[in-house]
Amino acid sequence: MFENFSRLWVIVALASEIRTDRLTPFVIAGERVVLFRDAAGKVAALVDRCPHRGVALSLGNVRDGIVECPFHGWRFDRDGRNCRVPWNPDAKSERLGAQALIVREHQGLVWLYTGFDPDDEPVPIEALRRNDVALCAQSSVWDAHWTRVMENMLDTPHLPFVHRATIGRRLAPYVDRPMRMHWQSTPYGADITREVDGEAAGSGRLAYRFPNAMELVIDPPGRLFRLLAVCTPELEGRTRLTLITVRNFAKTRLLDPVFRRMNARIAAEDRRIVESSVPREVPPASREVSVATDRPTLAFRKIYFDRIRGAREDPQEYRR
Ligand code: FES
Ligand SMILES: [Fe+2]
Repeated sequence: MFENFSRLWVIVALASEIRTDRLTPFVIAGERVVLFRDAAGKVAALVDRCPHRGVALSLGNVRDGIVECPFHGWRFDRDGRNCRVPWNPDAKSERLGAQALIVREHQGLVWLYTGFDPDDEPVPIEALRRNDVALCAQSSVWDAHWTRVMENMLDTPHLPFVHRATIGRRLAPYVDRPMRMHWQSTPYGADITREVDGEAAGSGRLAYRFPNAMELVIDPPGRLFRLLAVCTPELEGRTRLTLITVRNFAKTRLLDPVFRRMNARIAAEDRRIVESSVPREVPPASREVSVATDRPTLAFRKIYFDRIRGAREDPQEYRR
């Protein structure tokens, strides 16, 4: 379960998207998951697979925190406990539960743990500590392995080439000068900065957020403006890129489409290029050639092979 992506805390949704009267499905590392809120409004998650005949619980409905399977009407609570088996009043419901997963609602985001027994909690995102920010999200599904999408998010040298007319324009005059990339490890992952000819170049600093997110710090003077990019593996070679804009100005929802349009244009520029990468999954560093400015992507690649891929199997396997 959650192969090559297990025992990790990952951002899966905006808290505002999860409701008491609706089942919200998503796919992560080969597993279907369904999110909802219980009667008290607390976020809950189940494996989106009925233990009876494997159908998607998310095709059913939820009322007062109880999920009803669309096929034979079995019902489950937020902990996966079976609370009804139609036609079988004597069925031993303790044996007939669904699989619950661990979720947290924190700072306007929903985090899921891809395992059963977390020994830590999601690392807070400093920008979201403030209560004056508005969040808006959008996502697109890419035909690419998530590691290629993640590396693209941490890569600066591509900006003036892939984003010639947009975010790369300002760096274009400098491409024949030496650029240095710095990777500074932090409790949440790393801060990434750059210098061109010894000077901090252009606006915008990056942070890598373990395991699968990037935070771009754009902050115009006196304002907070961040872009969180979350690269979620769905199935092998299929990635959902979720972009979350965080801003403390122009907060009316009416402006969300403006930010979404801008993000969508830049993401489309990246997508065309990244989807062409072979091999699909990033290979060990020795199998591709690299230069000094690849430092951040190589640092991520090391983390991927050492700490993410196959390295964190959960001892308590899925119980069915
Ligand atoms: S498949 Fe869910 S109740 Fe039968
Ligand atoms: Fe890009």
